[in-house]
Amino acid sequence: MRPKVTIVGAGNTGATMGQILHQRGYADTVLIDIVEGLPQGKALDIAEAGPWARTSASITGTNDWADTANSDLVIITSGVARKPGMTREDLLSVNAGIVRSVVGAAAKASPNAVLIIFANPMDAMCHVALEASGFPKERVIGQGGMLDSTRYRTFISMETGASTKDVSAWVLGGHTEATMVPLVSNATVGGVPLTQLLSAEKLDAVVKRTMRGGAEIVDLLKTGSAFVAPAVATIQMVDAILLDEKRVLPCCTLLQGEYGVTGGYVGAPVLLGAGGIQKVYEIPVSVDELKAIQVAGDAVKELVAATPKG
Ligand code: 2OP
Repeated sequence: MRPKVTIVGAGNTGATMGQILHQRGYADTVLIDIVEGLPQGKALDIAEAGPWARTSASITGTNDWADTANSDLVIITSGVARKPGMTREDLLSVNAGIVRSVVGAAAKASPNAVLIIFANPMDAMCHVALEASGFPKERVIGQGGMLDSTRYRTFISMETGASTKDVSAWVLGGHTEATMVPLVSNATVGGVPLTQLLSAEKLDAVVKRTMRGGAEIVDLLKTGSAFVAPAVATIQMVDAILLDEKRVLPCCTLLQGEYGVTGGYVGAPVLLGAGGIQKVYEIPVSVDELKAIQVAGDAVKELVAATPKG
């Protein structure tokens, strides 16, 4: 039997995730949304591309939580996306209510699932989801670092001219413009430290562009936020969990003393496999980077304190 994945929210992000996952072929996907016809239409369109992808997996759309029962993994994309001029934090009140309600329903239908939280402000929404699901922290994981790291690697590739395949670079910390921590100290291109390849000025520009990566797309699109790179980033986490790949990936997790942060959801390298997070790694970072990760921990705790209670 194939694993079952539910994607909550059939907008651009949810549907793109559904398309990629369906074409991966190893999992059956359910798209759920409150808008009647939307998840059904998106799922049918994706299913009709199945013969090209030579997939035997299924994808269906529904408005009924009963159809999501016993999913192995649930991705929460629901919520409002930002418009130009808005920060992710501006979405706090509206998305907290939505995330609380869908996570409650998802957890009831699939009590053993791993939850991947995508809705923004993602770091704070992980706290909402942890509470609403009652799941252990290993099964409530935020997607942010995967996307921010893929953007960072792209911009490094653009600046150095080297293939993205040979760029190794991570973004830890928060998934907000103010709290993102693109690591410079351990970024390499083909094993060569990035600091040897780019001037301090260029390096600073790449770091700043990464931190504004989501906003750059919002400013260009004007009607919503990015969804292709976000979907790819998320599906790599799904692969790691459902195929028990034991990948070491930057994900948002509840830190309990690591990097000097206690009780805050912050991006850190984790071992991702069956059942979710199997281990949190503490990798060497510079003094400034460590401080920035701790600032991200303080910032998410402040956002949690400001989150309207359900
Ligand atoms: C982004 O950074 C949607 O938060 C997401 O584009």
